[in-house]
Amino acid sequence: MNVLKGKKILVIVTGGIACYKALDVIRKLIEKDVSVDCVLTKNAGEFVNVLSFESLLGKKVHLNLFSLDEEKNMSHIKLANKCDAILIVPCTANFLAKIANGIADDLATNIILASDAKKFIAPAMNTSMWNNKVVRKNIKYVEKIGFFILNPKSGKLACGSKGRGKLMDVDLIIDEVSTTFFEQKLLGIKVLITTGPSIEKIDPIRYISNFSSGIQGYEIAKILSNFGAKTTLISGPTNLEPPRNVKLINVESGEEFLKSSIAQLPADVFISVAAISDWKSKKISKKKIKKINGVPNIKFSINEDVLSDISKSNKRPKLVIGFSAETNDLIKNSKKKLKNKGCDWIIANKIQDGVGFMSEKNQVFYLDKNKVESWPKMKKNLVALKLAKKIVSFFKNNRL
Ligand SMILES: Cc1cc2nc3c(=O)[nH]c(=O)nc-3n(C[C@H](O)[C@H](O)[C@H](O)COP(=O)(O)O)c2cc1C
Repeated sequence: MNVLKGKKILVIVTGGIACYKALDVIRKLIEKDVSVDCVLTKNAGEFVNVLSFESLLGKKVHLNLFSLDEEKNMSHIKLANKCDAILIVPCTANFLAKIANGIADDLATNIILASDAKKFIAPAMNTSMWNNKVVRKNIKYVEKIGFFILNPKSGKLACGSKGRGKLMDVDLIIDEVSTTFFEQKLLGIKVLITTGPSIEKIDPIRYISNFSSGIQGYEIAKILSNFGAKTTLISGPTNLEPPRNVKLINVESGEEFLKSSIAQLPADVFISVAAISDWKSKKISKKKIKKINGVPNIKFSINEDVLSDISKSNKRPKLVIGFSAETNDLIKNSKKKLKNKGCDWIIANKIQDGVGFMSEKNQVFYLDKNKVESWPKMKKNLVALKLAKKIVSFFKNNRL
């Protein structure tokens, strides 16, 4: 969902070593159909070539408060009023200090004082500067008065040192800005999601698991949180970045999935995306099972059924959604699952080459007790969005 489409964003570039990354931010905003204007501070002009910005934008950047041409149009007031958001990227320690103190000695600082738009700061600086008490105080203060802080990450810095102060990843900056434009349609709703594979140990070095990547559950968590839901994600082992504003609980076995899920109740929605193994080894050997002893006689038992247990618990969330992955008789098996597990909706996906497990895309069916809908093959973030919209309309019709 491109919530940035048609938005007007003013990018202010200040004079730090990460200036060149602002070009990438602008490029990505333009790709998202954002109308971008750009202001460079005088010192930013020492780091980057204005022409690079102008060729990317296809128009002039704004540089000077007192330029006759621009001032005729009262450019600081005009720019301040016509944008939906102001993004300062990178933001120097110096510029931060000016904002925190209401200084207005150039075009950029005047715009900030004159604008009611959302304001984002993406600081980037040397670690000692970032940790400096004055910088800390300024960050705290501007956050308190409503600026969104896009915190720098740790890493190797241009000055050669290692530590916090590196500009937040450009994609993440775009994500953070996008998030604030989502309508908070699920504010006050608590959502619990399980995702990823389970790991059922056999001995200290072996286990049974499956090919679940966890992507679908992470995407659902991300979008529901963007819609304002208080979101908890219980995840089996994955290589995925934890979504922002989502409480992440890492687990391994089916038993841990169940314990953690119960501990997080009450919730308004439970979404069981995790591929929890149907079986587990009856006994986990304390020592490595040796090959020399031949084929081991591993006895399996039925694993915890988290979806069924949550669905039938006395703290049952108002809306319980299960995922079902099948290779055969998808609809028939999913209808059975809907009934037997006592859930409200099932999202059924057929496991085949190129879709489902380990893939970016999914082709799913939506089932409730009255109907079956076939959703087209689409990226998992779009499946998540379609599901989120259904959840929004569920709560519109079933007020808590
Ligand atoms: C090579 C060089 C790199 C710099 N990098 C940074 C930086 O990454 N972050 C920062 O806060 N200041 C940095 N500075 C200091 C700023 O350029 C300086 O504070 C300047 O006054 C900022 O101006 P502005 O905030 O008006 O753009 C750097 C200075 C030099 C000479």
